[in-house]
Amino acid sequence: MKPEVVLQLDKLQAKYDQDGQDLASMLEGLHLSDYISYWDYIQLDTLLTLQKPRTKIVDEPIFIMYHQITELYFKLSLHELEPLATRKVKATKEELVRRVKRVNRYFEALSNSFHIMADGMERSQFLAFRMALIPASGFQSAQYRLIEFASTALENLVKVEVRAQVNEQNPDAQTLYENIYWMQGATVEESGEKTLTLKQFEAKYTPLFMEKALAWRHSNLSMLWHELSAEDQQDKVLIEALRALDYQVNVDWPLQHYRTAAQYLARQPDDAAATGGTNWRNYLPPRFQKRIFFPFLWSEQEQSEWGKKWVTQQTGGLSEE
Ligand code: HEM
Repeated sequence: MKPEVVLQLDKLQAKYDQDGQDLASMLEGLHLSDYISYWDYIQLDTLLTLQKPRTKIVDEPIFIMYHQITELYFKLSLHELEPLATRKVKATKEELVRRVKRVNRYFEALSNSFHIMADGMERSQFLAFRMALIPASGFQSAQYRLIEFASTALENLVKVEVRAQVNEQNPDAQTLYENIYWMQGATVEESGEKTLTLKQFEAKYTPLFMEKALAWRHSNLSMLWHELSAEDQQDKVLIEALRALDYQVNVDWPLQHYRTAAQYLARQPDDAAATGGTNWRNYLPPRFQKRIFFPFLWSEQEQSEWGKKWVTQQTGGLSEE
């Protein structure tokens, strides 16, 4: 036997001795087991059975798969953010830069591919199969909200109209959560009632959201930046990465998404209602939501013009209506 093989066997022997296991039995198991294949390793067969259209309309699988792809990117983002938020890894300046840059790459990929939605489906087909999806909506993406909790203080997620007023009163986490922008956003325009989409979402996820919102309140990215030394806080690469994250998650992706919603749902006689039933025109544009994870990294002017210039350019003025 080659010396390197003997060395590896010695290491295995030591490991199995320590755990009180029999190395010979383990080697027999290894001898009998199959080689791993690509398709088993990435669970390909399962993955490819997860697309279950509700209609026979041919473009519906595109809609399903692109949502699934997006959720995987959200999962990748949480894979970077959660270890920080749970303090499993130490949030040094270098660690923050490394992880935030990864998340930025994921969101960049999502923003740059959103035209798969905007241009890649027949509008008439989309408008038909969406009727079979009511009241489901991407609004109900829990990972999207967890990315927010892991990134910023709850104070920054309060609906902009009451943000200053609520925050002035030194509110507890429960009050902040009740005033979060999306709770208020998903309302039926005429009655002000919560949409069924929101009711379903709350019923399923409120316990999880409250748990994470509380647990990460003092360990989200914003808080972790505040814990750095004064010198590290001013690090240009870190500031650039955090600002890029704010832009990617709170301006660029929402604008690509809003532009797509406008393309499909607007410009027809009765302005199609969203499947989630929201007043989406007044809700989705980033300049109305003014979600900013790291307000301390933006000037007053940048904050007041959040999402504005870009939206007018990209939507041909739709948001100005
Ligand atoms: C043709 C494509 C799409 C259209 C027309 C569309 C439309 C909408 C509309 C109208 C809303 C407002 C809530 C409602 O009433 O339903 C919404 C919310 C949302 N959608 Fe989409 N959407 C599209 C694709 C996507 C994709 C691919 C994702 C990826 C997961 C997504 C994720 C979201 C999220 C996270 C929200 C909540 C945004 C917020 O609260 O600010 N959407 N969408």
